[in-house]
Amino acid sequence: MYQIKIEKLDHFGRGVSRIDGKIIFVPNTLKGDIVNVKVKKEKNKFLEGEVISFIEKVKRCNICPYSKLCGGCHIIDLEYNEQLDYKVNKVKELFRKNFGFEVPIKEIISDSNTNYRNKVKFHVKDKKLGFYKEESHDIVEIDKCVIAKKEINDVIEVLKDILKKHSFLEVTIRSNGGILLDIEGNVPEDVLLSRLTNIDVIWLNNKLIKGEGIIYEEILGKRFKISPKSFFQVNTEVCSKIFEKARDYIKNKNYSKVLDLYCGTGVIGILVSDFVNEVIGIEVVSDAVKDANENKKLNKIKNISFICDKVENRLSEFKNVDLIIVDPPRSGLDKKSINNILKINPKEIIYISCDPNTLLRDLKLLSENYNIDDVLVADMFPNTYHVETIVYLASK
Ligand SMILES: C[S@@+](CC[C@H](N)C(=O)[O-])C[C@H]1O[C@@H](n2cnc3c(N)ncnc32)[C@H](O)[C@@H]1O
Repeated sequence: MYQIKIEKLDHFGRGVSRIDGKIIFVPNTLKGDIVNVKVKKEKNKFLEGEVISFIEKVKRCNICPYSKLCGGCHIIDLEYNEQLDYKVNKVKELFRKNFGFEVPIKEIISDSNTNYRNKVKFHVKDKKLGFYKEESHDIVEIDKCVIAKKEINDVIEVLKDILKKHSFLEVTIRSNGGILLDIEGNVPEDVLLSRLTNIDVIWLNNKLIKGEGIIYEEILGKRFKISPKSFFQVNTEVCSKIFEKARDYIKNKNYSKVLDLYCGTGVIGILVSDFVNEVIGIEVVSDAVKDANENKKLNKIKNISFICDKVENRLSEFKNVDLIIVDPPRSGLDKKSINNILKINPKEIIYISCDPNTLLRDLKLLSENYNIDDVLVADMFPNTYHVETIVYLASK
C-alpha cells in the first residue's frame, strides 16, 4: 500500500500521481486528495491504482449516490464550473502538445449539468432496475438518475412497481417533445397500458402497443422524427446551441454547395439548408438515411439529398464545394477522407468532434492547407469526461 497525493485529473477523469517516479492513475479521486492506494495493474510506463482509504479528502459535490458504482459520470464530484475548466484545459493541452501554441477558446457552450439526457436505457436483473455496474453485468439499482430528464425519472417508480409482479429485461425511455418507451420482456400489454398512462408511445418486443410509434423533437424551428432505434443527440439543449452557432456562421456566406459528412438523420444539413443552394449528406447507416429522408419531407426541404455509403468511398466524386461540415464518430476522419477533403479544397470546414484526441490528429493534417479560425468547446455530456469541440477552418 502507498500513500500518495493526487496532482491532477487525466483525460478520463482519473486522479494522477506518482509512485517512485512512475505515473499512477487512480479512479474516484480529485486533485488534492491524499489517499492510501493499492496497485491493481502494473504496466511498463504506468500503474493503475485503487483507493484503500482517504487520509484527506477535498470537497465533493455529492449529487449522485450511485456515481461510484455505475461509472457513467466520471467527474460528477467536481463543481460544474470546475468541470467546464477541466474540459477547456483538456482541449487547450492537446493543442499545446500537437501545435505548440495555446489556442484561444472563444466560448464554452453549456446548459444544465443535471436532467439533460433525453434517452436512457435501463437493464433489469433479479427484479432490480438500473444500470450495469462498470465492466460487469451486475445491476446498480437506482431510484433516479440525476442526468436523465425529469420525465424519464418520473417513469422509474411505476416500472419498479410493475416489476414486483411481472418481468422484463430492458427498457429504453426517450423524452423528446413526447415520451417513448421501448420495452423488451415478458410483461402483459394491458399492464403497461393501464399503468403508463402518461407515455405517448409504447413499443413492446418491437410491437407498437400505444401511439403513433414515433415522437418528434424540434430544433431551431425544424422538426425531427425519432423512432425507438434511431440516433439522436442525447442533449437537445446543447446540441441546439452548437447547431445554432454553425448555422449563424454559414448564414451570410452565400454558399452554393455544402457537404454534411457523417450526417446521421440529417439534422445539421437540414438546419443549414435554408442558407445555401444545395446540401449533400453522407451517412453509412441505412436506417439513419431513411430517417434523414423522412426529416427532409417533414420539413418540406427540396435542396438536400442523402447518400447511404461510407464517406471514404464517395468523397472523391465531389468538386466545387464551398463548405464541408464533418461530425465523425470518436475515431475521427480516416486518411483517405482527409486527402480527399484537401483535394476538394472547400473554402471552409466545420469540424464537430466528440474526441479531442482524434480531432487534433486530423487537424494536424488539415492545417497543411487550412488555418484554424475559431475553436469552441461544448459540454454535451456534463459530469462525464467527454468533451465536444467545434473547430472552424478557413482555406489558407
Ligand atoms: C457523431 S454521429 C453524427 C450524427 C449527426 N451529425 C447528428 O447530429 O445527428 C456520427 C455518424 O457517423 C456515422 N458514420 C460512422 N462511420 C461512418 C463512415 N465511415 N461513413 C459515413 N458515416 C459514418 C454514424 O453512423 C453516425 O451516424
